[in-house]
Amino acid sequence: MNTAFFRLLFCSLFFAFSISLQGFSQKIKIEKLLIENREQPIGIDNAQPLFTWIISSENRDLRQTSYELQVSSSEKHFSSNIIWESGKVNTDQSIKVPYQGPELSSNQSYYYRVKVGTNKGNSPWSGIAAWQMGLLKESDWKAEWIIPGYEEPDGLKPSPIFRKEIQIEKQVTSATAFITAHGLYEAQLNGQRIGDAYFTPGWTSYNKRLQYQAYDITDQLKTGKNTIGAILGSGWYRGEIGWGVNKYGNGIALLMQIEVKYSDGSSQTFGTDSSWKSGTGAIQSSSIYDGETIDARKAQKGWSTADFDDQSWPNAKTADFGYTNLIATYNEPIRKQETLPAVKLITTPKGEKVLDFGQNLVGFVALDITGEKGSKITLQHAEVLDKEGNFYTTNLRAADQENTYILSGEGQEHFEPHFTWQGFRFVKIIGMEGEIHPENFTAVVLNSDMAKTGTFTTSNDNLNKLQHNIQWGQKGNFLDVPTDCPQRDERLGWTGDAQVFFRTAAYNMRVDNFFSKWMQDLAADQRADGAVPHVIPNVLGEHDAGSAGWADVSTIIPWQMYLLYGNQSILEKQYPSMKAWVDYIQNNSHHQLWNTGAHFGDWLFYRPDDDNDGRSALTDKHLIAQCFFAHSTQLLINTAKVLGKQEDVQNYTQLLEQIKAAFLQEFVTPNGRMVSSSQTAYVLALQFDMLPEDLRTQAAQRLANNIKSYDYHLTTGFLGTPYLCHVLSRFGQQDLAFTLLMQPTYPSWLYPISQGATTIWERWDGQKPDGSFQTPGMNSFNHYAYGAIGDWMYRNLAGINSSETPGETGYKSIIIRPHWNNQLLSDKVKEKVQQDLDEVNAQLQTYYGTVASHWKKENHQVTLNLTIPANTTAMVYLPTDSLETITEGGAALEKVKSIHTITQENGQVKLEIGSGNYTFIIAEKQN
Ligand code: BGC
Repeated sequence: MNTAFFRLLFCSLFFAFSISLQGFSQKIKIEKLLIENREQPIGIDNAQPLFTWIISSENRDLRQTSYELQVSSSEKHFSSNIIWESGKVNTDQSIKVPYQGPELSSNQSYYYRVKVGTNKGNSPWSGIAAWQMGLLKESDWKAEWIIPGYEEPDGLKPSPIFRKEIQIEKQVTSATAFITAHGLYEAQLNGQRIGDAYFTPGWTSYNKRLQYQAYDITDQLKTGKNTIGAILGSGWYRGEIGWGVNKYGNGIALLMQIEVKYSDGSSQTFGTDSSWKSGTGAIQSSSIYDGETIDARKAQKGWSTADFDDQSWPNAKTADFGYTNLIATYNEPIRKQETLPAVKLITTPKGEKVLDFGQNLVGFVALDITGEKGSKITLQHAEVLDKEGNFYTTNLRAADQENTYILSGEGQEHFEPHFTWQGFRFVKIIGMEGEIHPENFTAVVLNSDMAKTGTFTTSNDNLNKLQHNIQWGQKGNFLDVPTDCPQRDERLGWTGDAQVFFRTAAYNMRVDNFFSKWMQDLAADQRADGAVPHVIPNVLGEHDAGSAGWADVSTIIPWQMYLLYGNQSILEKQYPSMKAWVDYIQNNSHHQLWNTGAHFGDWLFYRPDDDNDGRSALTDKHLIAQCFFAHSTQLLINTAKVLGKQEDVQNYTQLLEQIKAAFLQEFVTPNGRMVSSSQTAYVLALQFDMLPEDLRTQAAQRLANNIKSYDYHLTTGFLGTPYLCHVLSRFGQQDLAFTLLMQPTYPSWLYPISQGATTIWERWDGQKPDGSFQTPGMNSFNHYAYGAIGDWMYRNLAGINSSETPGETGYKSIIIRPHWNNQLLSDKVKEKVQQDLDEVNAQLQTYYGTVASHWKKENHQVTLNLTIPANTTAMVYLPTDSLETITEGGAALEKVKSIHTITQENGQVKLEIGSGNYTFIIAEKQN
C-alpha cells in the first residue's frame, strides 16, 4: 500500500468523522413543520398538499442540500405504516414541496416527518406532525341540508336552532364534525361550543364556493346519549349586506355530518336529516350592520344536552341544495384574539353614559350583569366623540351597530353577540339602572387568526404609533375577507383597498392563505368578459366592475404573493383570471389607449375646500387607467415567464410597448411634462416605467418640486400613496420620502396621530384640527388603505426585502437595505420634521425562519444586528462609503468567512452573506 492510499484513507475517515460529529451534534434541526402553510390543519382538500419546514441551526452559512420526507397513516406505528417516502431529494427547496404519494383518502389523518442534509451536516428526523383530509368527493356527503320546520316570520327573524340526539355504543378513537350553513352557524355538542371559530362558514361567493369546516370532536363525545346541533344567523348570506338583503337566497339552512371511528375498526356517520328538531331561542334577531337582540327569557336552556325536552319542536325539513359548491376551508378562521378593559366611563355633555376602550377596535363587548327579569340594556357603538365630546354615529350611515340584551333575572348573566361585530372605541350604555361598573364590560377583539409575522419599532414615538395604527387597521378589517371598513353599512371586500395594502399586510401577518382563498372568489365572480368586480365577493351587481387600480387586484396580488411567499401555485391558479383582466382592458381600449369606462381614480386625493388657485391635486382618470393597463400587462408577462408560457410572453410584451407608446402620445409632452402635474401622475408614471429612461430623472425632479410646492406635503389619494415614497427612494430622494413620513401637519400620515387616532383613517382629514368632521357620508376611522406606507417602512427604514428574481422569491434570497442617512436632510427639511430617528428594529417571520434587522445610531457609529435564516442568503447594502471603518463581530469584513463578497457601488457597501446572526459596526469616518 502506498502513501497516497493512506492519505486518502485518512482524509475520508476524518471527513466521515467530522460529518458524523456535525450530524449528531443536533445543532441542525427542523424547528417547525407546516402543511398548506398551517400547523396540523384538519379538513383540507388539496390532493397534493404542500409541505414547508423551517430549519434552525447555530451554524452560519447553512444551506440545505437534500431532504427526505416520510408520510405514514399511523402516528403510533409510524415506520411500519409508511405510505410514501420521497427518498433523498438533492435540492435546497424547503418550502411548498408537494406531496407525491398515492391518492389521499377522505377524512383520513396522515402523519409526516422530514430530515434534511445541509452543507454543515444532517439534521435528525423532525418530530411527527399530522394533517387530516376533508370530504373530497360529493358522494362523501351523507347528511342532508335542513331548514326550519316552522314558518319563519317576515323581516328580522329569530335564530333557528337545530338539535338531534345520537347514541354512541362503542369506544371512539376519533370523531370529526363537518359543518356548513346558508347563513352563519354556531354548533354545539353536549352543551359545549364546537370549536372556537366565529362567523363560520366564512364569506365566499356562496353559490359557487361554499366552505365547510372540520372539527375534531373526539374528546367532546361520550359513550351513551350525545346531543348535537347548531344555531344559525342570517349573516352575509341573507342578511343585509352591500345595500340590500338576501344577496344569496332567502332560506337559511344547515348541513352537518359527524364521522365517528371506533376502536374495533368500524365507523359510523351521523348527519342532518328530517329527524332533527327545529326551534328558536334567545337570539331574536341578528344583523351584521345593525347588531343583535338577545332575550334571555326566551333561552332554551340546555338545548344541546340530552335532558332537553324537544317534544314541542317541529321536525326540520330537508332541502335539495346539493353539494357541488362545497369546498374545504383554506384560510384561518376568525377567532377571539384578545380582550380590552374599558379605560374610563364618561358622562358626555348631553348626559350620555359612554365607556371608552382606548382603542378603535373590531369585535364586540361582552357584558356580565345581574338585574331584574325583563330589564333591557342596549349598547351602541361609535368610533369617535364629536367636537363637544358627545357620542357620534353619523358616519356609520345606516348601520345601527347596537346590541340589545333583555335579562332573565336569574342571577349573574353573561351576554355577547353571536352573529355580528362592531367597529368601535366608545360604547353608549342605555337602560342600565343604578351605577355602571366598567369592569363588567369587556371588549373582545376578533379577526382571522393568521400568524403574526412582523414587528416594527423605532426610537420615534410617532412612528411607533403609526405602526400600531396600521396593525389595528389590519386586525379590524381582516375578518375572513379584506374589507374597506368594519363599522358603517359597507364592510365589503373592496378590491382597490386590498391591493394597495397587500404588501404591508404581508409584513404584519401571514396572509398567504387568507388572500389565496379570496383570490379564488375573485376568479369565481369575475365577469365572462374579464371585468373584475369592485368588491369580492361581489354583492353589488354585474355592472359594478372594471375600475382601474381596483380591478388590477387580479394581477397585483397573485404576483406579490409569488414575490413575498414564493407562492407559485397561486400564479398557476390565477393565470386565466389575470389574462382575462388584461384582455378585457385591451378589448375596451382604442389603439391600446384605455379611455373608456368608469373609474374611481386617485380616490380621496388632497382637495382643499376653497380651491381658488387650482391647488386640488386632481389626476386625469384615464392617465391613471393607462398606467395600470401597463402594470397589469407587465405582471402578466412576468407570470407567463415563470410559468413558461412563451407565446404569451411575446404577445403581451408587444402589447406593453404599444400601451407605453400610447401613453406618451396622449399624456406626455415631448419635453416630459404630463397632462396632470400631480404627485400621483408622476408617481405612477415612474413606478410603472411609463417614461423612457431619458425623461425619468426630470420627472422625479418635478415630483420633488411638487412636494416642496405644497410645503413638504403629500397630496396623493388611494392609488398614488402606496408608491409615493418608493418612487422617491428609487430616484435618490430618500430624504424627501422620510420628510413626508415625518410630516406632522395635514395632509400626512402623522396628522391623525396628533388628533389621537388609534387606527388609520379613510381620509387624511377625517377629523379637522378644530375637532369638526369631514363629510359623514364617507368618513371611516378604520380604513387601512393609507396604511400602505407600512411596506415602505419595513423595506426602507429597517431594510427587509425579498429578492424579486424568479426562483429566489419568498425570502429565499433576502435583500437588506436599511437607511439611517437622514442626517442628509437639509436644515429646511429638518426644521419641518422636527424629529429624528436613531433606531429601527424590525423582524419578519418568513417560511425560512426569522429575518431581523436592528440598527442603532450612537456615539458616531451605527450598530446593525441582522438575522438571516438557515437555507437563505442575503445581499446587504450599507448606506456608507467608508468600507474600512466597518467590522462584523469585532473583525474586519474580509476575515469573516460567511461574508462571501464585498463590493462598493454608488456610495454603498454591498455584502453577500450566508445565514446566521451578525453584528456590524459602521463607524463614522474621521475627517
Ligand atoms: C369604500 C372605499 C372603496 C370605494 C370605491 C368606498 O365606499 O369605502 O374604500 O375603495 O368606495 O371608491
